[in-house]
Amino acid sequence: MLIALTRGVSPAMNRCELTHLQRRPIDIVLADRQHQAYQATLAAQGCTVLALAADAGLADSVFVEDTAIVLDEVAIVTRPGAPSRRPETTAVTLALASYRHLALIEAPATLDGGDVLVLGRDVFVGQGSRSNAHALTQLQTILQPWGYTVRGVAMHDCLHLKSAVTRVAPGRLLLNPAWVDATLFQGWDVIPVHPAEPAAANALLLETALIYPRHTPLTRQRLVAEGLMPIGVDISEFAKAEGGVSCCSIIFAA
Ligand code: GLY
Repeated sequence: MLIALTRGVSPAMNRCELTHLQRRPIDIVLADRQHQAYQATLAAQGCTVLALAADAGLADSVFVEDTAIVLDEVAIVTRPGAPSRRPETTAVTLALASYRHLALIEAPATLDGGDVLVLGRDVFVGQGSRSNAHALTQLQTILQPWGYTVRGVAMHDCLHLKSAVTRVAPGRLLLNPAWVDATLFQGWDVIPVHPAEPAAANALLLETALIYPRHTPLTRQRLVAEGLMPIGVDISEFAKAEGGVSCCSIIFAA
């Protein structure tokens, strides 16, 4: 059974962190509706949705992916790069403690889960504004007993590594070559995003389904042309906060 850990939309989301985007008004009512539909989509694909309550004091807390990396062997609670986001980990830690042994990323390390792309035993960690080299060292120490290899990835012009590259099928990645070097992912078949949609590389792959935003139709056509069948979700309000479909959940086997 897959669990999808989510967290409700904060009424304060208009005060979210922004790094690469200009602030635009977020319709909180619409964001909440989109979030409900997102959770329903995950449930329809077989996930048990474990929904944490919204927190009015934590503007970005709907982006639960950044707070923890959950593998079969361990859950790693992050130390988010934006100080405003660090209190988000408290509720997530309590929720995950029932499912996994916990390991903690500690200062001076900073790590956002959105920077962590796990491909088999290879753990790629984006080295941008949110995740630093101390986090690489700590992650390697935590994961080494289980045979994982952690490597840093340079990227630019995007918030997180998973803004630039995500897995969309066994052996296949969706990637923006302007933001991350595709040759780093040896042995993976790379589908490039449509050049008119630079922010289109964030997808959420479940066991039997690919969840994908409706607002990037040109890249979606590329996925369909490659034989994939993305299930569309509306996340316009989350995109305004620099969030994508992977950001709004942590998926793990119970
Ligand atoms: N607004 C998402 C983030 O900056 O973390």
